Amino acid sequence: MSKQVRLTAPNITAMKQSGEKIVVVTAYDYPTAQLADPHADVLLVGDSLAMVVQGHDSTIPVTLDQMIYHGEMVARAAERALVVVDLPFPTFQLGPTSALEASARILKETGAQAVKLEGGVQRTETIKMLVQAGIPVMAHVGLLPQNVLKLGGYRVQRDADRLISDALAVEQAGAFAVVLECVPAEAAARVTEQLTIPTIGIGAGPQCDGQVLVWHDMLGMTEGETPRHVRLYADLSETISESLAQYRAQVRSGKFPGSENSFE
Ligand code: KIV
Repeated sequence: MSKQVRLTAPNITAMKQSGEKIVVVTAYDYPTAQLADPHADVLLVGDSLAMVVQGHDSTIPVTLDQMIYHGEMVARAAERALVVVDLPFPTFQLGPTSALEASARILKETGAQAVKLEGGVQRTETIKMLVQAGIPVMAHVGLLPQNVLKLGGYRVQRDADRLISDALAVEQAGAFAVVLECVPAEAAARVTEQLTIPTIGIGAGPQCDGQVLVWHDMLGMTEGETPRHVRLYADLSETISESLAQYRAQVRSGKFPGSENSFE
């Protein structure tokens, strides 16, 4: 049987020219990565795992060791998709050398093929150093969740001039793609037109070269109101809850296990 060919960072960049929209979804463990791999071009081990897996209210608490723990499971399961792991707070905020050390650990200990970091103009030296070291970098501009304490909340970022200068800066520094998070669709369209690397939108409208969604959001596994940028493709919370209620009722009533679940 022929082995599945894995997409590379240059393959993802080339998809912009071919016009094929890039499909990105987050994954945090082996079974979800196995399910997502045939459908996605990129599996992102996002630091959003701090919120949707660990139950924190921001991405700040997740550690590098924890990102590596999850990244390794995803990279082991993925056969076709490029696996990108987020650099957690404060690995790259501490400077280019710290970012390089953290990225090297991620690539060596997880088997992932690229890293992602937040920030535009102020991260160009770091991106250049990583790229020079042979590490593919996905950049992330617009809303930067690791800045939530400074920003005071998660809000649409409306400064179009800043968005464009940040996006152009990370492209020049050598990023192979850039995430645009929570920015007006028109600004994202302008950035997408001006860049030669692909833009991957989340809350950034339909003109981006690709889209990314968080696994738990798109499959209805989070509580509370669904954010505007999310489309629910399933309601797994409901399905799981109904299944568990049925299990509970059957255990209580003695209907489970049946003879087909028992041994002679
Ligand atoms: O951490 C994450 O999942 C992300 C995406 C929302 C882009 O950065």
